[in-house]
Amino acid sequence: MNIYETDLLLNQYLLFHYGTAEDQVPYSFGPRDALFYPSRCVTDFLPDIGRKTRALDLGCAVGRSTFELTHWADEVIGIDLSGQFIAAAQAIQEAGKVQIRILEEGRRSTVVTRRLDPEIDRSKCRFFVGDALRVSPELGSFDLILAANLIDRVSRPVDLLGEIKRLLRSNGHVILASPYTWLEEFTPSENWLAGASVTTLSRIQEILEPDLVLVTAKDLPFLIREHARKFQWSVAQASLWKRS
Ligand SMILES: C[S@@+](CC[C@H](N)C(=O)[O-])C[C@H]1O[C@@H](n2cnc3c(N)ncnc32)[C@H](O)[C@@H]1O
Repeated sequence: MNIYETDLLLNQYLLFHYGTAEDQVPYSFGPRDALFYPSRCVTDFLPDIGRKTRALDLGCAVGRSTFELTHWADEVIGIDLSGQFIAAAQAIQEAGKVQIRILEEGRRSTVVTRRLDPEIDRSKCRFFVGDALRVSPELGSFDLILAANLIDRVSRPVDLLGEIKRLLRSNGHVILASPYTWLEEFTPSENWLAGASVTTLSRIQEILEPDLVLVTAKDLPFLIREHARKFQWSVAQASLWKRS
């Protein structure tokens, strides 16, 4: 079973992407600096990189980063393997709002409606169901590619990096963000990029160089709410790369 096709995960991701601070963390002492990660993956880097023509969000899930990228690019494409995530992203694009069922405990939940920032030009986006390891050649090339929390969710991370190299235009930038949670469930251990004495970042660098150079890397905390009293607090390493 693909967990990204379940109703539980759909609502967890709708909340992660579109919930307010209070929806996500109903405690004043919660780690609020870990909220709005899908936006921060973009806003933490883009002011330094500047405007782009075509951007691609690989593994876009329900689309918040894709929408954020419209502030910086004329056209943005979001791709995800999950049909229900893409259907949700397309419905949000159409309506400009989203209904989220927030799990409180057991079978008890609260339903809220949240609006997308009206400053976002939703008409710039297109969402497709697709495999980030084999992006349709019809989609063309890009001068900005984002892959947030994807590299440790694909079977062959090396193929993902190869595909990113293939799709990136000259002078293009890539943002890779991930907590590097390597799990057999998603990636056979022989394909993990972390080794006994090798970090994931150094392995990525080995694979991307010399075509791409590392510009900077930083830690980005993020929080995913499971229910009102249980949260996943993670720290992604977000790295910015430029085609040399
Ligand atoms: C951990 S989630 C991250 C989603 C989003 N980028 C974020 O940061 O919230 C991983 C996403 O990658 C998608 N995914 C997994 N394998 C994929 C593949 N081969 N091609 C495209 N999407 C994939 C899943 O459906 C899921 O939406």
